[in-house]
Amino acid sequence: MKNKIKKCLFPAAGYGTRFLPATKAIPKEMLPVLKKPLLQYGVEEAIEAGLDTMAIVTGRGKRAIEDHFDISYELEHQIKDTSKEHYLTEIRDVITNCTFSYTRQIEMKGLGHAILSGETLIGKEPFAVILADDLCDNDGDAVLTQMISLYEKYGCSIVAVEEIPPEDSSKYGVIAGEKIPSRAENDGSSDSQLDWESRLYRVTDMVEKPDPKDAPSNLAIIGRYILTPDIFDILRETKPGKGGEIQITDALFEQAKQGNVIAYKFKGKRFDCGSVNGFVQATNYFYNKK
Ligand code: G1P
Repeated sequence: MKNKIKKCLFPAAGYGTRFLPATKAIPKEMLPVLKKPLLQYGVEEAIEAGLDTMAIVTGRGKRAIEDHFDISYELEHQIKDTSKEHYLTEIRDVITNCTFSYTRQIEMKGLGHAILSGETLIGKEPFAVILADDLCDNDGDAVLTQMISLYEKYGCSIVAVEEIPPEDSSKYGVIAGEKIPSRAENDGSSDSQLDWESRLYRVTDMVEKPDPKDAPSNLAIIGRYILTPDIFDILRETKPGKGGEIQITDALFEQAKQGNVIAYKFKGKRFDCGSVNGFVQATNYFYNKK
């Protein structure tokens, strides 16, 4: 019996330099798309996927995150029983539906290092990772919900991927993989439940931010992962890679060599809110959708 996934790790220690000066005193994860901070979108996606323990890896200057996912007694006192009280409903729901724990990444040594810093909050169980600046939306099941269903079937690490223009490969971890034959392909079945099965690859290669000429495919990893806990031991042994940082892509490649990583071409939209362009697109998209 595979362990049920209950915990979601949010690396949130980065400086957000691309959003300076906005991020000088405000964590980039707290930048709002419409009225909601990016990190809250991520937490809501995790809750929707059935997770109830949020493990956040923060850094210096990130206190606003802890205050956001806590009760503000002053605010509650001011607006309780007034016409404005409903403005608090969404965040109250989040706070009552899960618990939050925090640890700090002391040095900025890459995403792999940030995830390893979260080990103390995760322990020896499989877990999800959401990078809050990749904002995802789907009218059906959210991306993480889709991935949890896959984990229940395959029981190994899973990365969400999407097709990118080849010239963008140096912004992402890029995979190569062999398509996993789906039941639909085998028996001609067209059951929509089987649809996701045609979107799966057994990963055979992974490269962090390759030059377009070295990219093994046009399938890029986006900020949604399911990781099995052996990743922590692997990360401890992982040498600095691209940019002199400890990369989760390199650690996952060690699992992939054992056939233990699946890439999933997810259903839905994804906005790179770590870039001004993506952030504006997300804002327009959610504004038009509301
Ligand atoms: C990180 C990962 C990269 C992945 C990307 C998704 O890069 O290192 O493999 O493709 O997230 O957003 P970052 O965007 O933090 O530089």
